[in-house]
Amino acid sequence: MIQISKPITGEEEKKAVCDVLDSAWLAQGPRVKEFEDRFAAYCGAKHAVATTNGTQALILALHAAKIDGEVLVPSFTFAATATTVKAVGAKPVFVEVDEKTFNMDAEDARKKITDKTTAIMPVHLYGQCCDMDAFRELAEDKDLTLIEDACQAHGAEFRGRKAGSMGDLACFSFYPTKNMTSVEGGMILTDDAEKAEGMRLFRNQGQTRKYWHEYEGYNFRMTEVHAAVGLEQLKKLDAFNKARRKNAAFYDDALKSVETPFVDKRCTHVYHQYTIKTRDRDALVKALEAAGIGYGMFYPIPAHKQPVIGSSASLPITEKLAQEVISIPVHPAITEEDLHAVAKAVNSTG
Ligand SMILES: Cc1ncc(COP(=O)(O)O)c(C=O)c1O
Repeated sequence: MIQISKPITGEEEKKAVCDVLDSAWLAQGPRVKEFEDRFAAYCGAKHAVATTNGTQALILALHAAKIDGEVLVPSFTFAATATTVKAVGAKPVFVEVDEKTFNMDAEDARKKITDKTTAIMPVHLYGQCCDMDAFRELAEDKDLTLIEDACQAHGAEFRGRKAGSMGDLACFSFYPTKNMTSVEGGMILTDDAEKAEGMRLFRNQGQTRKYWHEYEGYNFRMTEVHAAVGLEQLKKLDAFNKARRKNAAFYDDALKSVETPFVDKRCTHVYHQYTIKTRDRDALVKALEAAGIGYGMFYPIPAHKQPVIGSSASLPITEKLAQEVISIPVHPAITEEDLHAVAKAVNSTG
């Protein structure tokens, strides 16, 4: 079986975990701080706040920016992009994606701004950055907070700037299927010291000193075990991304009669997913299953169609893509033989 995703951990991660367990400090401590500092430096941001997962990272960011009213989000994304907006008491307003890149469309975002809009939250889907020039201009023009959902874009770049360094705030997930993992985990990046401090307080029960709960807050802390894994994975991230890009380049050459999202020249894509568009997805699923090849559909039901959201928005491009996309294995652990097997299965349905 060729898996659609495979976390790659080795002796380094094992040793790092054992070192934590052998130490006296298991909950949030010096390794979490080191992971924050190293990840912020890697991405080119001033401050980082580690948390339990990407969903909590989005909630912390929205809370820190005191977001209410309406938030512009894409619907062609993992549901947490929208459900977290609801979680902080704001309304997700759904924006169409660009037909070519499948990323949130800045022109449609502009049309959906109302006097209630407070923030824009573009998602760097599949590992390719959104048009951050356009979103930055829009945010500045309309005085909106710009939050990058960079949960799928560790190491991705736009005009040489890393994902996570271009918004007012940016959120990452370190779930095991991502380009790097801390098992579960999340991180928020920002250049705003005050917001970073607010998030640190919120993450730790709103305590300004022990048992003094001055602010609203919960326990959203990352553990030392998770940070230890994250630190080791961060050292490997560039090599992982290089392998993903190489695998993607193979597919770009080898796959016939399939459409893939257009790669913007300003972007360094890190292929969290290699996604193709097909009119006969059922036939492709059958061919992949027969060949023992894992696949994923990201995302078969857009966020605005989720029962918990209850939106009446109409997003024809998003809704069509949800019927047509399928992702094939692109992770660094697949072999050359696997790549040929995947290409053969995909081409057999063309
Ligand atoms: C775009 C996007 N946003 C948010 C999340 C949530 O991250 P987590 O699963 O770590 O809570 C994910 C995770 O899949 C994601 O892909």
